Amino acid sequence: MLNVIIFGAPGSGKGTQSENLIKKYNLAHISTGDVLRAEMKNGTELGKLAENYIAKGQLVPDDVVIGMLANVLDSKKDAAGVIFDGFPRTIPQSEALEKMLKERGQEVSIVVSLEVEEPELIDRLIKRGQQSGRSDDNLETIKSRLDVYKNQTSPLKEHYKTTGKLVPIKGIGTVEDIFLKISEAVDNIK
Ligand code: AP5
Ligand code: MG
Repeated sequence: MLNVIIFGAPGSGKGTQSENLIKKYNLAHISTGDVLRAEMKNGTELGKLAENYIAKGQLVPDDVVIGMLANVLDSKKDAAGVIFDGFPRTIPQSEALEKMLKERGQEVSIVVSLEVEEPELIDRLIKRGQQSGRSDDNLETIKSRLDVYKNQTSPLKEHYKTTGKLVPIKGIGTVEDIFLKISEAVDNIK
């Protein structure tokens, strides 16, 4: 099983590159953001809870996201592997993921970290906000998402560096060029 974590700040291209990875490597896609937005759209209890955090650009509490992930993971059992997009985002989430994979006789294969500077991230998200309808694609919320990334999520990079799984990749340029670099990194571990 190929378990890829696609890591990076809001707007770094996690979702965009996930689509390419899914096709090339026949992986299942788990985007916790997409799962939460679907819950919001369906008006579930989980969706209502998540909405308050997402609209402010804050993280949904760890126990909620971790609880949700176990179910989603088991629904993808038949895939050649999984791409985790937007998860883990905190140290407790990374510990929970490692435990969940270990219980299933698996481990994280690679952590691809898309590196993009803040002005470019803001530019991309503001542009997307003009059509996306996402409640968090406005300047105020984008700024808090970027702060949350800096303070709560980016420290995970150190963790994955020590495990030797982290591959930083420059996330600026064409989508195709960036994907070539990601593919090279993934092929190297196989
Ligand atoms: P989530 O849905 O994960 O959003 P995010 O991390 O803020 O990132 P985005 O989805 O906005 O960006 P992306 O990196 O996927 O980039 P994309 O490919 O779309 O999370 C949303 C919220 O849900 C969180 O704030 C939190 O509240 C909650 N949540 C989710 N997971 C959670 C968790 N694990 N724990 C707790 N809370 C959680 O690209 C962005 C734009 O740039 C697009 O318009 C795209 O077309 C464009 N673009 C992509 N690549 C390029 C390129 N190379 N050049 C130019 N433009 C490009
Ligand atoms: Mg995304």
